[in-house]
Amino acid sequence: MRLKSIERVEPGDLLGKAVYDDKCQLLLAKGVNLTLNYIERLKHASIHCVYIDDALSEGLEVENVISDEIKVKSITAVKSVFKEVTERKGVSLSPKGIDTIKDIIDEMMDMIFQNRETLYVMTELMGTDMYTYNHSAEVAILSMLVAKSLGLNGQYIQKVGIGAMLHDIGKMKIPNEVLNKTDALTDIELEKLKEHAKLGYDLLKDSMAISPISRQIVLLHHEKLDGNGYPMMLDSEGIPVHVRIVTICDIFNALVSNRSYREKMSIDMALEIIRTEAVYQLDREIYYHLMKVVNIYPVGTIVELSNGKSGIVIKENKDAQTRPIVQVIKDKQRAEVLNLLNDLTLFISQTIDL
Ligand SMILES: [Fe+2]
Repeated sequence: MRLKSIERVEPGDLLGKAVYDDKCQLLLAKGVNLTLNYIERLKHASIHCVYIDDALSEGLEVENVISDEIKVKSITAVKSVFKEVTERKGVSLSPKGIDTIKDIIDEMMDMIFQNRETLYVMTELMGTDMYTYNHSAEVAILSMLVAKSLGLNGQYIQKVGIGAMLHDIGKMKIPNEVLNKTDALTDIELEKLKEHAKLGYDLLKDSMAISPISRQIVLLHHEKLDGNGYPMMLDSEGIPVHVRIVTICDIFNALVSNRSYREKMSIDMALEIIRTEAVYQLDREIYYHLMKVVNIYPVGTIVELSNGKSGIVIKENKDAQTRPIVQVIKDKQRAEVLNLLNDLTLFISQTIDL
Protein backbone atom coordinates (compact mmCIF):
# COMPACT_ATOMS: atom_id res chain seq x y z
CA MET A 1 0.00 0.00 0.00
CA ARG A 2 1.21 3.50 -0.75
CA LEU A 3 -0.09 7.05 -0.92
CA LYS A 4 -0.67 8.46 -4.39
CA SER A 5 -1.98 11.87 -5.44
CA ILE A 6 -5.38 11.77 -7.07
CA GLU A 7 -3.89 13.27 -10.24
CA ARG A 8 -1.68 10.19 -10.63
CA VAL A 9 -4.24 7.54 -9.72
CA GLU A 10 -5.08 5.37 -12.71
CA PRO A 11 -8.09 3.21 -13.52
CA GLY A 12 -7.30 -0.28 -12.24
CA ASP A 13 -5.50 0.88 -9.07
CA LEU A 14 -6.93 -0.85 -5.98
CA LEU A 15 -7.96 1.38 -3.09
CA GLY A 16 -5.74 0.48 -0.11
CA LYS A 17 -7.74 2.34 2.55
CA ALA A 18 -11.41 3.30 2.75
CA VAL A 19 -12.34 6.91 1.94
CA TYR A 20 -15.08 8.84 3.76
CA ASP A 21 -17.32 11.73 2.70
CA ASP A 22 -18.06 14.98 4.53
CA LYS A 23 -20.67 13.24 6.66
CA CYS A 24 -18.06 10.71 7.76
CA GLN A 25 -19.94 8.06 5.77
CA LEU A 26 -18.07 5.49 3.70
CA LEU A 27 -17.52 6.84 0.18
CA LEU A 28 -15.44 3.98 -1.24
CA ALA A 29 -14.36 0.83 0.59
CA LYS A 30 -10.86 -0.62 0.81
CA GLY A 31 -10.19 -2.99 -2.09
CA VAL A 32 -12.39 -1.17 -4.63
CA ASN A 33 -11.02 -1.33 -8.15
CA LEU A 34 -10.83 2.33 -9.17
CA THR A 35 -12.54 3.32 -12.39
CA LEU A 36 -12.56 6.71 -14.12
CA ASN A 37 -15.98 7.31 -12.60
CA TYR A 38 -14.73 6.57 -9.07
CA ILE A 39 -11.68 8.78 -9.58
CA GLU A 40 -14.00 11.65 -10.61
CA ARG A 41 -16.09 11.04 -7.50
CA LEU A 42 -13.00 11.26 -5.32
CA LYS A 43 -11.94 14.52 -6.95
CA HIS A 44 -15.45 15.89 -6.51
CA ALA A 45 -15.23 15.05 -2.79
CA SER A 46 -12.08 17.28 -2.60
CA ILE A 47 -9.83 14.28 -1.96
CA HIS A 48 -6.23 15.08 -2.93
CA CYS A 49 -4.64 11.69 -2.43
CA VAL A 50 -5.56 8.09 -1.67
CA TYR A 51 -3.83 4.92 -0.53
CA ILE A 52 -3.57 2.37 -3.29
CA ASP A 53 -2.37 -1.19 -3.65
CA ASP A 54 -0.35 -1.70 -6.81
CA ALA A 55 2.51 -3.88 -8.04
CA LEU A 56 5.09 -1.43 -6.71
CA SER A 57 3.70 -1.47 -3.17
CA GLU A 58 2.62 -5.10 -3.05
CA GLY A 59 2.94 -6.67 0.38
CA LEU A 60 3.73 -3.38 2.15
CA GLU A 61 1.46 -2.69 5.11
CA VAL A 62 1.61 0.40 7.30
CA GLU A 63 1.34 0.02 11.07
CA ASN A 64 -0.26 2.92 12.92
CA VAL A 65 -0.64 3.81 16.58
CA ILE A 66 -4.24 4.97 16.04
CA SER A 67 -6.59 2.83 13.92
CA ASP A 68 -8.52 4.33 11.02
CA GLU A 69 -11.72 3.40 12.85
CA ILE A 70 -10.85 5.54 15.88
CA LYS A 71 -9.62 8.35 13.63
CA VAL A 72 -12.94 8.47 11.75
CA LYS A 73 -14.82 8.25 15.06
CA SER A 74 -12.82 11.18 16.44
CA ILE A 75 -13.44 13.32 13.36
CA THR A 76 -17.16 12.54 13.62
CA ALA A 77 -17.11 13.51 17.30
CA VAL A 78 -15.32 16.83 16.70
CA LYS A 79 -17.64 17.66 13.84
CA SER A 80 -20.77 17.08 15.93
CA VAL A 81 -19.44 19.16 18.83
CA PHE A 82 -18.24 22.01 16.60
CA LYS A 83 -21.54 22.02 14.68
CA GLU A 84 -23.42 22.24 17.95
CA VAL A 85 -21.47 25.39 18.83
CA THR A 86 -22.30 26.95 15.45
CA GLU A 87 -25.98 26.13 15.72
CA ARG A 88 -26.64 26.73 19.39
CA LYS A 89 -27.47 30.19 20.61
CA GLY A 90 -25.89 29.47 24.01
CA VAL A 91 -22.40 30.58 24.91
CA SER A 92 -21.06 27.42 26.56
CA LEU A 93 -20.22 24.00 25.22
CA SER A 94 -22.95 21.58 26.37
CA PRO A 95 -22.23 18.78 28.89
CA LYS A 96 -23.14 16.29 26.14
CA GLY A 97 -20.53 17.84 23.83
CA ILE A 98 -17.89 17.66 26.56
CA ASP A 99 -18.69 13.98 27.20
CA THR A 100 -18.39 13.22 23.47
CA ILE A 101 -14.88 14.68 23.39
CA LYS A 102 -13.81 13.01 26.64
CA ASP A 103 -15.00 9.59 25.48
CA ILE A 104 -13.05 9.69 22.23
CA ILE A 105 -9.93 11.03 23.96
CA ASP A 106 -10.13 8.07 26.36
CA GLU A 107 -10.33 5.65 23.42
CA MET A 108 -7.30 7.30 21.83
CA MET A 109 -5.42 7.12 25.14
CA ASP A 110 -6.06 3.37 25.31
CA MET A 111 -4.59 2.90 21.83
CA ILE A 112 -1.59 5.10 22.57
CA PHE A 113 -0.75 3.12 25.69
CA GLN A 114 -1.40 -0.25 24.01
CA ASN A 115 0.75 0.43 20.94
CA ARG A 116 3.69 1.94 22.79
CA GLU A 117 6.31 1.27 20.15
CA THR A 118 4.30 2.26 17.09
CA LEU A 119 4.84 5.61 15.40
CA TYR A 120 2.03 7.84 14.19
CA VAL A 121 1.35 7.84 10.46
CA MET A 122 -0.49 10.94 9.26
CA THR A 123 -3.42 9.52 7.30
CA GLU A 124 -5.83 11.16 4.90
CA LEU A 125 -9.21 9.50 5.04
CA MET A 126 -11.39 12.45 3.97
CA GLY A 127 -11.38 15.45 1.64
CA THR A 128 -10.10 18.96 2.36
CA ASP A 129 -13.65 20.15 3.20
CA MET A 130 -13.18 18.25 6.44
CA TYR A 131 -9.92 20.03 7.24
CA THR A 132 -10.98 21.69 10.50
CA TYR A 133 -12.26 18.46 12.07
CA ASN A 134 -9.46 16.28 10.71
CA HIS A 135 -6.93 18.85 11.92
CA SER A 136 -8.44 18.91 15.44
CA ALA A 137 -8.32 15.11 15.70
CA GLU A 138 -4.79 14.94 14.35
CA VAL A 139 -3.47 17.71 16.64
CA ALA A 140 -5.03 15.86 19.59
CA ILE A 141 -3.33 12.57 18.64
CA LEU A 142 0.05 14.22 18.03
CA SER A 143 -0.13 16.27 21.23
CA MET A 144 -0.97 13.23 23.36
CA LEU A 145 1.89 11.27 21.80
CA VAL A 146 4.32 14.13 22.42
CA ALA A 147 3.05 14.51 26.00
CA LYS A 148 3.60 10.79 26.57
CA SER A 149 7.06 10.97 25.01
CA LEU A 150 7.88 13.82 27.41
CA GLY A 151 6.98 11.52 30.31
CA LEU A 152 3.82 13.33 31.44
CA ASN A 153 1.34 11.18 33.38
CA GLY A 154 -1.90 9.73 32.02
CA GLN A 155 -4.25 12.29 33.58
CA TYR A 156 -2.13 15.15 32.28
CA ILE A 157 -2.02 13.58 28.79
CA GLN A 158 -5.81 13.27 28.78
CA LYS A 159 -6.18 17.00 29.56
CA VAL A 160 -3.70 17.87 26.83
CA GLY A 161 -5.76 15.74 24.41
CA ILE A 162 -9.03 17.47 25.31
CA GLY A 163 -7.48 20.93 24.97
CA ALA A 164 -5.86 19.97 21.66
CA MET A 165 -9.09 18.54 20.28
CA LEU A 166 -10.92 21.78 21.16
CA HIS A 167 -8.08 24.22 20.42
CA ASP A 168 -9.84 25.82 17.44
CA ILE A 169 -13.43 25.54 18.67
CA GLY A 170 -13.60 29.37 18.74
CA LYS A 171 -13.35 29.33 14.93
CA MET A 172 -16.99 28.23 14.93
CA LYS A 173 -17.80 31.79 16.06
CA ILE A 174 -15.80 33.44 13.25
CA PRO A 175 -17.69 34.45 10.07
CA ASN A 176 -17.29 32.00 7.18
CA GLU A 177 -16.13 34.78 4.83
CA VAL A 178 -13.04 35.18 7.00
CA LEU A 179 -12.58 31.51 7.85
CA ASN A 180 -12.83 30.20 4.29
CA LYS A 181 -11.10 33.06 2.48
CA THR A 182 -8.36 31.66 0.26
CA ASP A 183 -6.73 35.01 -0.60
CA ALA A 184 -4.58 36.88 1.90
CA LEU A 185 -6.60 38.30 4.79
CA THR A 186 -6.82 42.08 5.29
CA ASP A 187 -5.54 43.44 8.61
CA ILE A 188 -9.11 43.73 9.90
CA GLU A 189 -9.92 40.15 8.88
CA LEU A 190 -6.73 38.89 10.48
CA GLU A 191 -7.63 40.58 13.76
CA LYS A 192 -11.08 39.00 13.53
CA LEU A 193 -9.56 35.55 12.97
CA LYS A 194 -7.23 35.98 15.93
CA GLU A 195 -10.27 36.37 18.16
CA HIS A 196 -10.91 32.62 17.87
CA ALA A 197 -8.54 31.85 20.75
CA LYS A 198 -10.46 34.02 23.23
CA LEU A 199 -13.87 33.02 21.80
CA GLY A 200 -12.96 29.35 22.23
CA TYR A 201 -11.88 29.97 25.81
CA ASP A 202 -15.16 31.78 26.50
CA LEU A 203 -17.10 28.73 25.31
CA LEU A 204 -15.34 26.59 27.92
CA LYS A 205 -14.58 28.92 30.80
CA ASP A 206 -17.73 28.22 32.82
CA SER A 207 -17.49 24.46 32.47
CA MET A 208 -16.06 22.76 35.54
CA ALA A 209 -15.83 19.54 33.50
CA ILE A 210 -13.01 21.03 31.40
CA SER A 211 -9.76 21.37 33.32
CA PRO A 212 -7.80 24.63 33.49
CA ILE A 213 -5.02 22.86 31.52
CA SER A 214 -7.35 22.20 28.57
CA ARG A 215 -8.81 25.71 28.74
CA GLN A 216 -5.35 27.29 28.77
CA ILE A 217 -4.49 25.37 25.61
CA VAL A 218 -7.52 26.81 23.83
CA LEU A 219 -6.73 30.37 24.94
CA LEU A 220 -2.96 30.33 24.44
CA HIS A 221 -2.22 27.99 21.51
CA HIS A 222 -1.05 30.92 19.30
CA GLU A 223 1.37 32.37 21.85
CA LYS A 224 5.07 32.29 20.88
CA LEU A 225 8.12 32.03 23.14
CA ASP A 226 9.55 35.35 21.86
CA GLY A 227 6.39 37.23 22.88
CA ASN A 228 5.13 37.74 19.34
CA GLY A 229 2.06 35.54 19.59
CA TYR A 230 -1.53 36.27 20.62
CA PRO A 231 -3.88 36.98 22.38
CA MET A 232 -1.82 37.87 25.48
CA MET A 233 1.68 38.19 23.97
CA LEU A 234 3.11 36.00 26.71
CA ASP A 235 6.77 35.02 26.52
CA SER A 236 8.67 31.87 27.50
CA GLU A 237 8.15 32.63 31.20
CA GLY A 238 4.39 32.55 30.86
CA ILE A 239 3.71 29.74 28.38
CA PRO A 240 3.24 26.35 30.07
CA VAL A 241 4.46 23.07 28.61
CA HIS A 242 0.98 21.78 27.66
CA VAL A 243 0.41 24.88 25.55
CA ARG A 244 3.85 24.60 23.90
CA ILE A 245 3.07 21.01 22.89
CA VAL A 246 -0.19 21.90 21.15
CA THR A 247 1.31 24.98 19.45
CA ILE A 248 3.98 22.91 17.70
CA CYS A 249 1.57 20.10 16.77
CA ASP A 250 -0.92 22.66 15.42
CA ILE A 251 1.67 24.33 13.16
CA PHE A 252 3.12 21.01 12.02
CA ASN A 253 -0.24 19.48 11.14
CA ALA A 254 -1.33 22.58 9.23
CA LEU A 255 1.83 22.38 7.08
CA VAL A 256 1.41 18.71 6.21
CA SER A 257 -2.31 18.92 5.39
CA ASN A 258 -3.83 19.42 1.98
CA ARG A 259 -5.99 22.53 1.79
CA SER A 260 -8.41 23.64 -0.88
CA TYR A 261 -5.93 26.33 -1.98
CA ARG A 262 -2.57 24.59 -1.60
CA GLU A 263 -0.93 21.19 -1.63
CA LYS A 264 0.47 19.76 1.56
CA MET A 265 4.14 19.83 2.40
CA SER A 266 6.06 16.59 2.97
CA ILE A 267 6.65 15.62 6.60
CA ASP A 268 10.44 15.92 6.40
CA MET A 269 10.20 19.38 4.83
CA ALA A 270 7.65 20.57 7.42
CA LEU A 271 9.88 19.41 10.26
CA GLU A 272 12.83 21.20 8.69
CA ILE A 273 10.83 24.42 8.35
CA ILE A 274 9.69 24.30 11.96
CA ARG A 275 13.28 23.64 13.06
CA THR A 276 14.83 26.52 11.14
CA GLU A 277 12.12 29.17 11.21
CA ALA A 278 10.98 28.79 14.75
CA VAL A 279 14.21 28.79 16.68
CA TYR A 280 13.06 31.64 18.92
CA GLN A 281 9.35 30.99 18.86
CA LEU A 282 8.84 27.30 19.63
CA ASP A 283 10.13 24.88 22.22
CA ARG A 284 13.09 22.96 20.86
CA GLU A 285 12.81 20.01 23.24
CA ILE A 286 9.16 19.49 22.30
CA TYR A 287 10.13 19.67 18.63
CA TYR A 288 12.53 16.75 19.13
CA HIS A 289 9.78 14.73 20.78
CA LEU A 290 7.47 15.44 17.83
CA MET A 291 10.18 14.07 15.54
CA LYS A 292 10.29 10.92 17.67
CA VAL A 293 6.56 10.14 17.53
CA VAL A 294 5.73 10.93 13.90
CA ASN A 295 6.53 8.41 11.22
CA ILE A 296 8.56 10.59 8.84
CA TYR A 297 8.91 8.04 6.03
CA PRO A 298 6.15 5.44 6.50
CA VAL A 299 6.37 2.13 4.65
CA GLY A 300 5.25 2.74 1.04
CA THR A 301 6.72 6.27 0.82
CA ILE A 302 8.46 6.89 -2.51
CA VAL A 303 11.75 8.69 -2.00
CA GLU A 304 14.59 10.09 -4.04
CA LEU A 305 18.04 9.20 -2.74
CA SER A 306 21.15 11.37 -2.78
CA ASN A 307 22.58 9.19 -5.58
CA GLY A 308 19.66 10.21 -7.81
CA LYS A 309 17.91 6.84 -7.65
CA SER A 310 14.32 6.56 -6.51
CA GLY A 311 13.02 3.89 -4.18
CA ILE A 312 10.18 2.79 -1.95
CA VAL A 313 10.45 2.53 1.84
CA ILE A 314 9.89 -1.12 2.77
CA LYS A 315 10.77 -0.99 6.49
CA GLU A 316 11.40 1.70 9.07
CA ASN A 317 14.47 1.86 11.30
CA LYS A 318 12.66 3.01 14.43
CA ASP A 319 15.72 4.40 16.16
CA ALA A 320 16.97 6.17 13.04
CA GLN A 321 13.85 7.36 11.32
CA THR A 322 15.60 9.23 8.54
CA ARG A 323 17.49 6.10 7.50
CA PRO A 324 14.86 3.47 6.63
CA ILE A 325 15.28 0.37 4.45
CA VAL A 326 14.57 1.34 0.84
CA GLN A 327 14.05 -0.79 -2.23
CA VAL A 328 15.30 0.86 -5.41
CA ILE A 329 12.75 1.31 -8.23
CA LYS A 330 13.96 0.40 -11.70
CA ASP A 331 11.61 0.47 -14.70
CA LYS A 332 8.62 0.69 -12.30
CA GLN A 333 9.75 -2.55 -10.61
CA ARG A 334 11.34 -3.08 -7.20
CA ALA A 335 15.04 -3.88 -7.48
CA GLU A 336 17.90 -3.95 -4.94
CA VAL A 337 17.34 -3.34 -1.23
CA LEU A 338 19.37 -0.65 0.54
CA ASN A 339 19.48 -0.32 4.31
CA LEU A 340 20.37 3.34 4.78
CA LEU A 341 21.68 2.53 8.26
CA ASN A 342 24.44 0.47 6.65
CA ASP A 343 25.29 2.98 3.94
CA LEU A 344 25.84 6.30 5.63
CA THR A 345 26.98 8.02 2.43
CA LEU A 346 23.42 7.78 1.12
CA PHE A 347 20.48 9.84 2.39
CA ILE A 348 16.93 10.65 1.38
CA SER A 349 16.91 13.93 -0.54
CA GLN A 350 13.13 14.22 -0.92
CA THR A 351 9.86 12.34 -1.06
CA ILE A 352 8.24 12.06 -4.48
CA ASP A 353 4.83 11.37 -5.95
CA LEU A 354 4.98 8.54 -8.45
FE1 LIG B 1 -5.94 28.32 16.23
